[in-house]
Amino acid sequence: MAKYRIAWMPGDGIGNDVMEAARLVLDSMQFDAEYLHGDIGWEFWCKEGDALPRRTIDLLGDVDAALFGAITSKPKEEAHAELASELRDKGLTYQSPIVRLRQTFDLATNLRPCKAYPGNPLNYREDIDLVVFRENTEDLYVGVEYHPVPESLSEELTKHPRWARFIEKNELEDIAVSLRINTRNGCRNIVRAAFEYAKQFGYPTVTVVEKPNVVRETSGLMVRTAREVAAEYPGIELWETNIDAMCMWLVKNPQNYGVLVASNMFGDIVSDLCAQLVGGLGFASSGNIGEKLAVFEPTHGSAPKYAGQYKTNPTAMLLTAKLMLDWLGETEEAERLENAVAETIVAGEVRTYDMGGSHSTIELAQAVADRLV
Ligand code: IPM
Ligand code: MG
Repeated sequence: MAKYRIAWMPGDGIGNDVMEAARLVLDSMQFDAEYLHGDIGWEFWCKEGDALPRRTIDLLGDVDAALFGAITSKPKEEAHAELASELRDKGLTYQSPIVRLRQTFDLATNLRPCKAYPGNPLNYREDIDLVVFRENTEDLYVGVEYHPVPESLSEELTKHPRWARFIEKNELEDIAVSLRINTRNGCRNIVRAAFEYAKQFGYPTVTVVEKPNVVRETSGLMVRTAREVAAEYPGIELWETNIDAMCMWLVKNPQNYGVLVASNMFGDIVSDLCAQLVGGLGFASSGNIGEKLAVFEPTHGSAPKYAGQYKTNPTAMLLTAKLMLDWLGETEEAERLENAVAETIVAGEVRTYDMGGSHSTIELAQAVADRLV
């Protein structure tokens, strides 16, 4: 029997290309795993009306970890139009399966390292080493949304002085409301994860990225909680920065920052910015981590126009597999894999199109694999 049971979920588009690359590399390391295929993605929305079928949820309840490729998400109208005809007008609504996975399995920590590997021609600077901790289950992503706004909600909101100006000028069907819901526990857990990481790997600061001067309650809760947690870590300084200013500072002086922590939406935004500083989404790995399960996926999307062309840089996916090895406790193997990726980058002989080369996804993975046997 293999040591680990890993759910294998390529998903959509280039998800398949990069997962094939990951498999090649994991096999070359002789990682002792049984891979169990999980259906997920756009195809299952169109055919079954569910992008994350029950059987996949069951599978995830019975594995050590999951690797996931990429997912396609489309806006409401397009999603409805692509449903099989017999499933239309049944009130089915599309919700991104990765967001559902995060919420269903309480994968509350989204870990997104963005490190400039020496010799990557796409590095913005050579001395960048950022790690984003993004809260993964709350905030504007909870999906508690209304359009039109129900009468009962409007009545409740009428008690709030700021609601009046909306209903004076608009019909309820012309107003959309998305709730931003954040909890003290959610804030505390993500900030603690960030501080624990900073402590373990020797980062001197943790920067909380929010907007408490305007969004006083939700961003405020995050920053107030961050201050409480920071008091438990005397050696590490808490920096507080607004999301807009953070974007500016990250472009100006990214080398001054280390661990960043943010709520779901701001974390989503800032993690793409950080990714671009170290070569773009082709280099950005991520882990959705819960207490019992963790699902590892590259930060990039499914890029449907490149699907099946094996053009995509698999580095993000390979570094994602590295995060999985770390989480499983295979830290030496994780380091071996990261070193092989770093050596391949610095050698510069095999490069995908984003790095100015013409090698394929598989050729790059093979170059990494050759360093691992
Ligand atoms: C990410 C992606 C997802 C998100 C999308 C695909 C739903 O952008 O993982 O950052 O917004 O969380
Ligand atoms: Mg994103």
